[in-house]
Amino acid sequence: MHLLERRPLLDCLHMRSRAQLTLAVCLCVVLAWPGTLRAKEPVRAQHGMVVAQEPLAADVGLAVLKTGGNAIDAAVAVGFALAVTHPSAGNIGGGGFMLVRLANGNTDFLDFRECAPQKATRDMYVGPDGKATRDSIFGWRSSGVPGSVAGFETASKKFGSKPWADLVAPAIKLARDGFPVSPTLADSLSNEKSLATDPESRRIFLRDGNFLKAGEDLKQPELANTLTRIAESGSKGFYEGETAQKFAAAMASHGGLITEADLKTYKVGEQSPLTGEYKTFGIISAPPPSAGGVGVLQILGMLKGTGYDSDGPDSAKAVHFEAEAMRRFYADRSEYLGDPDFYNVPLKPLLNPAYLAKRRSTIDPDHATPSDLVEPGLPRTAVAHAFPYESTETTHFNVVDSQGNAVAVTYTLNNSYGNGITAPGLGFLLNDEMDDFSSQPGVPNMFGLVGGEANAIEPGKRPLSSMTPTIITRAGKIFMVVGAPGGSRITTGVTEVILDVLDFGMNVQDAVDLPRFHEQWRPEFLYLQHGFPQSAADALTKMGYSVKPVDGVGRVEAIVVKDGTLEGGTESRLNGKVAGY
Ligand code: DON
Repeated sequence: MHLLERRPLLDCLHMRSRAQLTLAVCLCVVLAWPGTLRAKEPVRAQHGMVVAQEPLAADVGLAVLKTGGNAIDAAVAVGFALAVTHPSAGNIGGGGFMLVRLANGNTDFLDFRECAPQKATRDMYVGPDGKATRDSIFGWRSSGVPGSVAGFETASKKFGSKPWADLVAPAIKLARDGFPVSPTLADSLSNEKSLATDPESRRIFLRDGNFLKAGEDLKQPELANTLTRIAESGSKGFYEGETAQKFAAAMASHGGLITEADLKTYKVGEQSPLTGEYKTFGIISAPPPSAGGVGVLQILGMLKGTGYDSDGPDSAKAVHFEAEAMRRFYADRSEYLGDPDFYNVPLKPLLNPAYLAKRRSTIDPDHATPSDLVEPGLPRTAVAHAFPYESTETTHFNVVDSQGNAVAVTYTLNNSYGNGITAPGLGFLLNDEMDDFSSQPGVPNMFGLVGGEANAIEPGKRPLSSMTPTIITRAGKIFMVVGAPGGSRITTGVTEVILDVLDFGMNVQDAVDLPRFHEQWRPEFLYLQHGFPQSAADALTKMGYSVKPVDGVGRVEAIVVKDGTLEGGTESRLNGKVAGY
């Protein structure tokens, strides 16, 4: 049983009547069912809300909403602020996805994922011994062409209402004046080995070994200057001119691949989100080059009609059915998903209800299916080739405004602090997103995920992602906005929280706090987050799962709209913030 506070149960001890006793007994039964634990109330607000992983950035977004900005304005401002206050994942040197649903029902998906530079080659991370090198994670050659600045500019131009410079200004101030380092950031910086290997990162973020203590100010004047050029000239202030020249020159002198031409020609992908239905809910999620939306829709689709939810969310039964659906999705992911501009992703067959029903029918209700018996499941005629894998630091934030516009953004440098390299004189960290490609199709990557042709490296191509920004509607209105960082565990973590709210009726705070689990086909483990009920873990072991403890399964943040009230949840074990008014 979870160690969650059960205040309602204590209240029951003050009972006086038989009716109260009956009520108390019922409550005790209900509370003993993990899915209905009510441990913590969500933060509530009436007008607008921002949920982000770092409080100062959440407050920047809230200030934009309160001064008349819409959700897209706020999201852009939060994106820039996180690049200053949350350097492990907030970025202008990386990329990500923005999912937008406007109050009028229109939706959009902005793909500002990094792309492979023109000089990239399929075997660039294969050593002379035929084995994968570590260059996709470490060093200058690990970076893809950054997309965040272009993505934010596109969002602002298409949907924003405030002047661009006003959205960058709070980030400039935070970078120039500095901000007090939180205990979390102080701890994270002093333990980040990759920052110590790059002289510029070591100087800025580690103060050459004289580590910043909690409460001391982190000032980033070079980043402030870079942001100022962006504020003044828009994305041209990043992809062209001084920033682009300095960036490309540093790349060239360190053997990196990104050129001024790569920067100048970077394009944001604009496409329709992936949509589907689950019970009475509309699901809007990330299309390829994210695997996220396919994952959410496949897993929900496979669960339909199984009755998986009869015993509560962290029961052996629920975990078993969900894990088997996850296993089947990850098998498909390994073969069929990649950048749709380069690979013919068989989206329709993958989401066909008849196909999902067939996949569902292979789930044994009492036993785990060995992964060797689960193959990518489409008939050969439906597809061409094969896929990917990935890493562990990213950030997600959600915004809902008073008009009912909603935005979910997940963006990343891939690993924590990317490849640990700061662009000299420019103050921003570089991504190591090239590791999200399959360096060697068919050979498992550092996370054990198997990659294939669909995700092989090609110039200009985007690597497959797990990022899963998702918006859920009910009766034509926003019901939930959700997403997470967490590498390959993003999709499963987000899906679990969706199910906890939609099927198990949990409030959003309890849902994000509930210990989660993860199954990804290969390697063949059922990962259980610390705090997961031991009795369920034992039952799952008996069913044939090889269980393994993990610290977290994604770091999920969500907003739920209930009867017009916004309810926000961010994981209590971490230091995010729900900011609302
Ligand atoms: O796009 C992806 O799926 C990965 N680059 C995300 C990495 C990640 O989430 C790391 N975070 N915690």
